Amino acid sequence: MSIILAIESSCDDTSVAICNNGKITSNVIANQTIHQNYGGVVPELASRVHQKNIVPAIHQALQQAGVSKKEIDAVAFTRGPGLLGSLLVGVSFAKSFALALNIPLVSVNHMHAHILAHFIPGDKNPPEFPFLCLTVSGGHTQIVLIKDYFNMEIVGETLDDAAGEAFDKTAKLLNLPYPGGPLIDKHAKVGNSQAFQFAKPQIADLNFSFSGFKTSILYLLRKHVAANPNFVVENLNDICASVQYSIVQILMNKLETAALRFGIKQVAIAGGVSANSGLRNALEANHEKLGWQTFIPPFQYCTDNAGMIAIAGYYKFLEKDFVDQSVSPMARMEF
Ligand code: KG4
Ligand code: ZN
Repeated sequence: MSIILAIESSCDDTSVAICNNGKITSNVIANQTIHQNYGGVVPELASRVHQKNIVPAIHQALQQAGVSKKEIDAVAFTRGPGLLGSLLVGVSFAKSFALALNIPLVSVNHMHAHILAHFIPGDKNPPEFPFLCLTVSGGHTQIVLIKDYFNMEIVGETLDDAAGEAFDKTAKLLNLPYPGGPLIDKHAKVGNSQAFQFAKPQIADLNFSFSGFKTSILYLLRKHVAANPNFVVENLNDICASVQYSIVQILMNKLETAALRFGIKQVAIAGGVSANSGLRNALEANHEKLGWQTFIPPFQYCTDNAGMIAIAGYYKFLEKDFVDQSVSPMARMEF
């Protein structure tokens, strides 16, 4: 029997979850809308808002799960990677909480947790080891070979921008507010994905690059806007559909190559961009096309959330894999 309280504060979402014997019984997420005014996350503002949000989020998570502080057996927290000031709020809170309650502390790597979100009990069976996971978020784009809960190997990753950044930076060019990924997704649903073509990166092995692709979008927009100042507004749906189609193609090509190379047919996606409908559909289409067994986390466990930290913490708790009070956050954390 175990009750774990988990805290996620790596970027701009303050989230607290409770894991009761491997089941997530609450997953509170306090989003920070303040960054919309700046077109991206402002680190200093993010840490201040985490400080404001963390205590109410803890109370709400406990209340929703129907547990009291005294019943908690361990505190799990995101140690990194992420924004240092944001991480510092969650890590300091977790350490004080564990010290006050005299319970163990469990350190979790945010990128492992995105993948382990697949083990949050739900309607479907989780993947079996080994499986491949494409983890796509605002800061990372990785293809990971997962051999066990904590035996994972990155077999391909981005050399520059992450897929989420490609979405967000394109959105900025289109005057859409931050984070632009979900908005591009929305407009793409009613656009023509073949309307515009962009430069496809030619990168070796299983790695990715999105910087040249982004520049090619910028040049295309400049060319058309010079001829028609209303080009973006008049073609928004088609631009979004074409950009999304291209990003999904780039991601899926490498994922298919990886699946062939490792002879693996259990393929998952994770991270914020796994909420994208184009990517979800493309992955699912490979069930028919290539005989893949595909795995997509439920919506609330795709973008940053403490539920995934809680499940990762639960598996570490079972191994008694604890850290002491000397632990500190790591903006860059080894995988
Ligand atoms: O995993 P996440 O919540 O935070 C990081 O760890 O970075 O990912 C956030 C990223 C943002 O770039 C956001 O635009 C993107 O995920 N995202 C999407 C969608 N929902 C979130 N991108 C495309 N389509 C979506 N539906
Ligand atoms: Zn994330």
